[in-house]
Amino acid sequence: MTSYITKKSGKYWPSKAMKDIAWVKDSKIYKEADKNPIKFWSELAKQGLVWEKLWKPENTYVQKIPYFWWFKQGKINFCVNALDRHLDKPSKPALIWVPEPTNEKTVILTYAGLYEKVNRFANTLKQLGVKKQEIVSIYLPLIPEALIAMLACTRIGAIHSVVFSAFAPDALKTRIIDGNAKILITADGYYRRGKKENLLKKAKKAIKGTKIKKVIVVPRFNKKKHYFGKYLNFYDILNKTPSYCKPEIMNSEDPLFILYTSGTTGKPKGIVHDTGGYATQAYWTTKWNFNLHEDDIIWCTADIGWVTGHTYAFYGPLLNGATTLIYEGTPDFPNPSRWWKIIDKFKVTSFYTAPTAIRMFMRFGDKWVNKHKLNSLRILATVGEPIDQNAWNWYLKKIGKSRCPIIDTWWQTETGGTLINVLPGIGPFIPTIAGKSFPGTRHIILNKAGKKVSKGFLAQVSPFAPGMLHGVWKNHKKYVETYWKTFKTKYDTSDGAIMKNNLFRITGRTDDVMKVAGHRLATAELENVINTHKFVNESAVVPIPDKIKGQTPIAFVVLKGKNKNPEKIEKKLKSHVDKHLGPTSRPSRIYLVNALPKTRSGKIMRRILKSLLNNEEAQGLMTLVNPDCVEEIKNLVSQDIINKNAKKTNN
Ligand code: WT7
Repeated sequence: MTSYITKKSGKYWPSKAMKDIAWVKDSKIYKEADKNPIKFWSELAKQGLVWEKLWKPENTYVQKIPYFWWFKQGKINFCVNALDRHLDKPSKPALIWVPEPTNEKTVILTYAGLYEKVNRFANTLKQLGVKKQEIVSIYLPLIPEALIAMLACTRIGAIHSVVFSAFAPDALKTRIIDGNAKILITADGYYRRGKKENLLKKAKKAIKGTKIKKVIVVPRFNKKKHYFGKYLNFYDILNKTPSYCKPEIMNSEDPLFILYTSGTTGKPKGIVHDTGGYATQAYWTTKWNFNLHEDDIIWCTADIGWVTGHTYAFYGPLLNGATTLIYEGTPDFPNPSRWWKIIDKFKVTSFYTAPTAIRMFMRFGDKWVNKHKLNSLRILATVGEPIDQNAWNWYLKKIGKSRCPIIDTWWQTETGGTLINVLPGIGPFIPTIAGKSFPGTRHIILNKAGKKVSKGFLAQVSPFAPGMLHGVWKNHKKYVETYWKTFKTKYDTSDGAIMKNNLFRITGRTDDVMKVAGHRLATAELENVINTHKFVNESAVVPIPDKIKGQTPIAFVVLKGKNKNPEKIEKKLKSHVDKHLGPTSRPSRIYLVNALPKTRSGKIMRRILKSLLNNEEAQGLMTLVNPDCVEEIKNLVSQDIINKNAKKTNN
């Protein structure tokens, strides 16, 4: 069995077999790229993509902080890069889709097959009046039509805005309104744990009060169903439109898609990604991080509702002409060997997932993994939150069978592609260490005053990476405030980091953003929703560490009336959150309290709540206007801790 790693002085490094197949194996690349990152990326953009017309040399990188443009006015179509140029191998699978029901057939879309469908659907969108640079909302689960819809948008220069299918109607509605979308693409539903989830019902609720004129419904369940009025069957129209659609030639700096993400305030931000810069970073990070060759099959388990799904389940692999695998369902249904079965069956070579999933499998026990060979795997990678040593070791031993490197990739919705990680041909692979800035990008650690330190706030330095966001959709102020207020000329990542032996360790968010099972969630977003419940006067949300999810939100709520039946009210409030945000945001515990600790100026002291939850002495009670409430909260919380411990000993 080929091993792609070798152990030297207690650390893992690429083995000779890895070096032999690695695109990048000489660490000189970092220094060379850093000498002139603009030239470096310019070469990569030309090598990796097809351009209709190159940009003028002086336009390779234009910067006017807080904005910057790559390959300005270079002419390109994204879809041509993802599809048309791979038509020399028409029968090669572009996408493998594994549905949840075991009696349903796997769907394989070849490059030629996908090309035809994308062209037809692009024509469909045009017929429905979608114009260049108009936003199209997509509310789809992980099904092949999601890729068809997204690529069709890019073919005609429309901007897609994908909304996670588990989000509630309200979340979809605010995103539709913010983007002023007229078309929504959704599905009648999808399978999850053997159950049919009705997505259309949620979509119907969401479009009330928006400007949506047409809803295109992918028939996941009922293939032949005809829809009326506003609603259309995806295939009814697709089958009637011409099989070729001329690609719209765009400027490199034109927006390709927007994707909403949580910031510190209650309202999610529409992160704007451009075409040429994003494509360049997606292409090269996919190729180098996963050491992707054309015969590789990459499986990124993320949903397309997240940026990881955009860049590494769809766009990066297709730009590289590789095969990508996606699946419907959950990791543990019908049992926790589902993923490992898929890897063996389809001979997946690169596997990309989140630490929260790994921790979940650790809890299920090794027996679900042990019986699988997993010998097609070459590269393992993680994303979403720091990976702890235990999870890293388990991933290496049980999934990688101690022969695959683990690439821990740090990045964000805003960065479009990975930014800090080691490369498989270079290494070293060390648990809890993300690694180095991707060649041609620069990061530093600063203190609050903006001085360089070895432990502090992680920032990105000019020239900013090509995949970086192009602003916040129609919100310049938010863009400046969120990313450029602290360090002015440097991009503030809102993450903490430590530098050790020239490698970055990421310590987590430094703002009021939580990572719950890899999902990004702002405390304010959750509080806003809880506060809209008619019983609620005010609330405060804080994260606590969670063994599986990494973090989980806990809410403290002051009711308008009396807390007569706390258990019932807690249940009600949880389903209120499910209804308005989606179950991924549900607090794992809601405490009903008489008051929240506040400063004299009325600021809620979440820090104190956090200490109480962690069973620590709360500091700074003197600044509170109502220190008495702390005792009450402490009693409530400690009762819970006592109960939990009692449960543990009983087990
Ligand atoms: C936040 C961004 C970008 C893909 C998925 C998440 C955290 C992400 C790592 C990592 C430590 C990580 C950061 C970051 N994060 N990857 N490898 N190690 N932390 O995208 O939802 O925009 O979240 O996820 O805190 O800021 P996102």
